[in-house]
Amino acid sequence: MEKHILALQLSHLLGEQFSREWVYDKIEIPKQPHLGDLAFPCFSLASFFKRNPKEIASQLAPQLKHDLFAKVQTAGGYINIFLNQAFVTEQTMKQVLTDPSSYGSHSFGTGKTVVLDMSAPNIAKPFSMGHLRSTVIGNALSNLAEKCGYTTVKINYIGDYGTQFGKLLAAYQHWGNEEKVRENPLKELTKIYVHFHQASKDDPSLIEEGREWFKKLEQQDEEALKLWKWFKAVSLEEFEKVYELLGIEFDLTRGEAYYNDKMDKTVKLLQEKQLLEESEGAQVVRLDKEGLPPCLIQKSNGTSIYATRDLTAAIDRYQTYEFEEALYVVGHEQSLHFEQVKHVLLKLDFDWADQLKHISFGMMLTDGKKMSTRQGKTILLEEVLNEAIQQAASNIEEKNPELQNKEEIAKQVGVGAVIFHDLKHDRRNDVEFSLEDMLTFEGNTAPYLQYAYVRGRSLLEKGEFHIETADASLKEEPAWPLVKWVRHYPETVFKANTNHDPSIIAKYLLELTKAFNKYYADTKILQNDQQNARLTLIYVFTVVLKDGLRLLGIEAPEHM
Ligand code: ARG
Repeated sequence: MEKHILALQLSHLLGEQFSREWVYDKIEIPKQPHLGDLAFPCFSLASFFKRNPKEIASQLAPQLKHDLFAKVQTAGGYINIFLNQAFVTEQTMKQVLTDPSSYGSHSFGTGKTVVLDMSAPNIAKPFSMGHLRSTVIGNALSNLAEKCGYTTVKINYIGDYGTQFGKLLAAYQHWGNEEKVRENPLKELTKIYVHFHQASKDDPSLIEEGREWFKKLEQQDEEALKLWKWFKAVSLEEFEKVYELLGIEFDLTRGEAYYNDKMDKTVKLLQEKQLLEESEGAQVVRLDKEGLPPCLIQKSNGTSIYATRDLTAAIDRYQTYEFEEALYVVGHEQSLHFEQVKHVLLKLDFDWADQLKHISFGMMLTDGKKMSTRQGKTILLEEVLNEAIQQAASNIEEKNPELQNKEEIAKQVGVGAVIFHDLKHDRRNDVEFSLEDMLTFEGNTAPYLQYAYVRGRSLLEKGEFHIETADASLKEEPAWPLVKWVRHYPETVFKANTNHDPSIIAKYLLELTKAFNKYYADTKILQNDQQNARLTLIYVFTVVLKDGLRLLGIEAPEHM
């Protein structure tokens, strides 16, 4: 609000050359309170006006006037603005109180659709930490987009097709055991798959067998199809357990295989546009001008591949949803693939291909090393979540054994911890996996935030706060930093959404909560003179914290 007002006034004063957006981006939030609430550095204006920054600042400052501004000062080449605390506090709290659940929302996305390609685990393989990253990042991005007014479609593009299923089918013929697969599908299927890889080193004929089985699958051979369907069903059942723990649902679960009989059309389109070329018996689209290696469309034996399926799926999705954006939440090792897919679509004159965005993320590491299925080093997500829940449960047992609903709360805390640990990092960075770090109350963790929420709620209970009798007219200095963080929420939502970066929300929630904890430590909230106004601020804080956690996919328990 005040940033927009300041930007507008300054850009008027500075003249056409300096747009409101340009000024807006330059406005800073000073770290130290004695430098005000907003600051505008005049250094980059010096060469244009041919005067030193200090002079420019002194000339501009007296001309900035608004009800929101209490004081405008200069310090060197900076203009420092102090906001009218009582006025801003009241305005902010009233905004939240009018419609708590929509505070921080925007409407610029209304009438537009965002499609998210997310989670996408591969059947007959464990749900890995990489798929967890895709799932929780995708879910948060979807919540953010909805908060900005968009309609969202979350698609789980299951990896249910490809030559690896030929290998799995071959492996099953040699080492498969129906009983064992039924008991523990993902573990058992992974085991025989890993075994296949090791055995094929000594016996290359196995590779050929795998190829044969894949061909059978492509030709809809009864036995191959039956096994494949079974593997798929048991895998989905296992994945569902994870989604249930995470509390995440999809609008559409549609795997790669769905596009098997729809790819001919795509290949035809490519042919018509004369984009296909033969290369060593395979069909490719050359992307020399784009500076990319050729995109493989069909293998020499006629089988289609990953890229062709993604091309087909993208065309299908655009026809169905006319999306404003299609986000592919997939690890950064697939960057090249998505670049290729986008450029092939552009070559087909699909302008909307520019709306495809690869939302890439780093790896989950253990002891600084990548986790990989083949070496059996992958940590199983379901085990991780259950372990986190168990640790949360034993924390509760130790600290608050009388707590009601213990099981439910342990789940909220344990799962929240795992999600937050992932989302607090810039998604592009690798994340080191550590249960201990996730669950501590001291660090920058979900339990730390959830605990602050619980404290806030219990204050409201003790003080018998009622929203009907809320009082927004709080006048006290120590409340100011907390008010300011509450006020930053709408802008933070906007930023996190435009940058497709949930860590902006996560970091914001940590700052918001730190401000609350400081206020709580420095002020006797439950004292008569301003008690109700103070409680109103506490209420406003709990509203924002809970909503921010919700955006990340984390629940806020009422007791802990
Ligand atoms: N199943 C793939 C994997 O685990 C990820 C699929 C990502 N989405 C896509 N449209 N290609 O590597």
